Amino acid sequence: MKKQIYKDANAAADGFAQYLLSKHKSQDTLSIALSGGSTPKILFNLLADKYLSEIDWSKIQLYWGDERCVPPTDNESNYKMTVDHLISKINIPETNIHRVLGENSPTEEAVRYGQLLAEHLPIVDGLPEFDIIILGIGTDGHTASIFPHEIELMTSASICAIGINPDSGQKRITLTGPVINNAKSVCFLATGASKAEKLSEIFSASGNFESYPAAHVSPTHGELIWFLDEDSSK
Ligand code: 6PG
Repeated sequence: MKKQIYKDANAAADGFAQYLLSKHKSQDTLSIALSGGSTPKILFNLLADKYLSEIDWSKIQLYWGDERCVPPTDNESNYKMTVDHLISKINIPETNIHRVLGENSPTEEAVRYGQLLAEHLPIVDGLPEFDIIILGIGTDGHTASIFPHEIELMTSASICAIGINPDSGQKRITLTGPVINNAKSVCFLATGASKAEKLSEIFSASGNFESYPAAHVSPTHGELIWFLDEDSSK
């Protein structure tokens, strides 16, 4: 596990962008599962602006680590957020974009997306293997859409599952823990003072860290890198 601490959120996003570029240049294609929420917006804007000419998006397959069960036009949609901050600004083939169909029945979509991953990605140790999975962490220690009250999803036998936001009751489709831990690289992008408490507990294996899904991200054969800023790593 590597911790890379940057002065602020912009620098942390840039640090990840440099990491992504190094992977992009060292292998012909990349499969990336994107995280949602607000943190990735800085990264997506950076990739579409500063690094626009350095990335050949025809070589990158985009997936999502989780998606809210809403239409793709809904402001809650992680896909919409990605379109607004990245996809609308880059030249990427439609066929490289594998969105979760948030408008579908959650039960059906968890199965469909799981099958899609099994068909599109290499199968390693019986599970789809992403090149890179980007994750965020919630102030409750959730990651992707695996929340503490459903921590059993960190050991689910399914590829995808339905997660429920405990505050809003909103259903989401999420990768499960074994798929997350099967990636070649898992990169947390976690910035801001609101994440500091949970990160401190996780890194020191103290407090209630075992109840946080993010604490159970431990790639079986890949690397784990935390891209942090000073505020989140106090
Ligand atoms: C989502 C995300 C989720 C997110 C964390 C952190 O769909 O909301 O995938 O896991 O990464 O909640 O969110 P922020 O980046 O907004 O703090």
